[in-house]
Amino acid sequence: MKDNNSIRVAVVGAAGRTGRMFAFELAKSANVLGVVRKEEIETIGKQGLWVRREGEEPKQLRIKLISEDRFSYSFLPQVVFLTTKNPVGSAVGYYYQKIKNMEKLPCLVLSQNGLSAGKEAKEALERVLGERAKEVQVVRVSLLNPVEKEEIGGRQCVAYFLPVRLSFGVFSGKKDVGLLSSLFKKAGIKAKEVEPARVPDMEVSKLFLNLIGIPSVSWGVSLKKGFEEKRIAEEEFLCLKEYIRVVKAVGRDFINLPGIPLKLLAFLLDKLPLSFLLLFRKKIGSIVSQARGEKEKGNLDEVDYYQGEVVRLGKRAGIPTPIQERILKRARQRLNHFRVGCRSG
Ligand SMILES: NC(=O)c1ccc[n+]([C@@H]2O[C@H](COP(=O)([O-])OP(=O)(O)OC[C@H]3O[C@@H](n4cnc5c(N)ncnc54)[C@H](OP(=O)(O)O)[C@@H]3O)[C@@H](O)[C@H]2O)c1
Repeated sequence: MKDNNSIRVAVVGAAGRTGRMFAFELAKSANVLGVVRKEEIETIGKQGLWVRREGEEPKQLRIKLISEDRFSYSFLPQVVFLTTKNPVGSAVGYYYQKIKNMEKLPCLVLSQNGLSAGKEAKEALERVLGERAKEVQVVRVSLLNPVEKEEIGGRQCVAYFLPVRLSFGVFSGKKDVGLLSSLFKKAGIKAKEVEPARVPDMEVSKLFLNLIGIPSVSWGVSLKKGFEEKRIAEEEFLCLKEYIRVVKAVGRDFINLPGIPLKLLAFLLDKLPLSFLLLFRKKIGSIVSQARGEKEKGNLDEVDYYQGEVVRLGKRAGIPTPIQERILKRARQRLNHFRVGCRSG
């Protein structure tokens, strides 16, 4: 239940997939302000923002919405939940510049996939806040629910299943996460806290999941179809094997994520020979596809933060990453092709 003491959360990107989902779920117990693109605010005003939780009818998100340029300290946010895509630097700089004179700077929550959001955000905070950047607690979230947009009865909804599951931990700043733990708990979000020292391990573990399916999409097929085709399934497995080698070389480790025994999965992927894995490729493809609720997100537009991260890590560790590089090149080509196609009609 909300009252005057409810936590004040600004969700930046509230019209997007994850932003809308977080805004809807958090609004049950917190005072949520949705921040959306200036160009979108008028249409949103007319059509509303809708979500569809699995097994339920579409529901409208009923929170106060403002456009990005109207964001100010007047709402006195305690938490800024940034749900925009990678890279995050310019958005973090833009919003914290606007509230830099607040007496108590809000905690910044970053739910992007990949390994770069924390560092980019910290650099942006230092740029706009100087010494005061240290006062901002930066928290990383690894969200495990796939969130998609779908059209229902002429309405564009954001669809996801419940419960919302995530891991979270402090990237920098004060270590106490009492405020966020209570925020997630009240909203019924299954949130597992990860100690600050293991936050990089949480990120590499989530990235393991994100890498799956990119080889297939880079070939222009769904994950399920990709695993049915031996040549593509082989690339999917080799991509993960190469990633595990890189993660070990940089001294990181996999951790289990809520409901996902990732340590065991990475161990098996590493140890089992490719020929053996290929025998089960269709089954594996179908299990992963089912776990994602048959949602094929594609995500090629963030490939520089998926396979691209592995290439960067590999360079740091002096480990060649020819498989990621091959996938990255093909994915970028497909993306460019798609963008040119969109522009020309
Ligand atoms: N979708 C998933 O299933 C999922 C799951 C786990 C994690 N993630 C991660 O979450 C991040 C966001 O993904 P998403 O799928 O939610 O993306 P999305 O649907 O594109 O949502 C991002 C929203 O933020 C808006 N935005 C961008 N910059 C903004 C700004 N400065 N101020 C206000 N709004 C701004 C975007 O508007 P424009 O489109 O106009 O830029 C868009 O509406 C990604 O890093 C992704 O890896 C996604």
